[in-house]
Amino acid sequence: MSSQVKPQILFRRDEIEATVKRLAAEIREDYHGKYPLLIGVLKGSFMFMADLIRLLDFPLEVDFIQVSSYGRGRLSSGRVRVVQGLHSEVRGRDVLVVEDIVDTGLTTSFLLDYLRKKKPASLRLCTLTDKPSRRQVSVSIDYLGFTVPDRFLVGYGLDWNQKFRNLPDICVLEDEEPGVV
Ligand code: IMP
Repeated sequence: MSSQVKPQILFRRDEIEATVKRLAAEIREDYHGKYPLLIGVLKGSFMFMADLIRLLDFPLEVDFIQVSSYGRGRLSSGRVRVVQGLHSEVRGRDVLVVEDIVDTGLTTSFLLDYLRKKKPASLRLCTLTDKPSRRQVSVSIDYLGFTVPDRFLVGYGLDWNQKFRNLPDICVLEDEEPGVV
């Protein structure tokens, strides 16, 4: 991809806000009174997590985990590992994983298996975006923000080579050619 990439808005900040509100309402309904542990997947989920938890008006804990995903390209190696682990005890907790995107599903599926082995009381997945057209392994999503086309997304925490995370809207890169970003 050239360095002249121009992000174009796919979902405006007000649409994101409305979607995060809807997700918070769904989560509130299911977790009120349960004291869940929300686990954000770094780095992409940090902005979504920050907005989401401000709308959850009950006691909860937050932790973050970082797993390897894409390097500098778009193709997933299929190899996933934990780069930065959790600080919280997962056993017996109601765990809600907060993702930015489920693409091939390899990362999320690895992560859910990793957490399941730690014997949480329950384990659910909330993702802001889902790109089902690229799925390689099936992933069950409990709370879904947006279903997105097969385009490379940036903004609202999502990056391309660590850039564009700070954009307040979810965007696609203008001169994208599938498979070469
Ligand atoms: P998966 O293992 O293919 O599902 O990919 C998961 C990870 O890849 C996400 O957590 C993101 O870090 C990254 N990723 C996948 N698609 C995109 C995208 O469109 N924009 C930015 N990052 C992406």
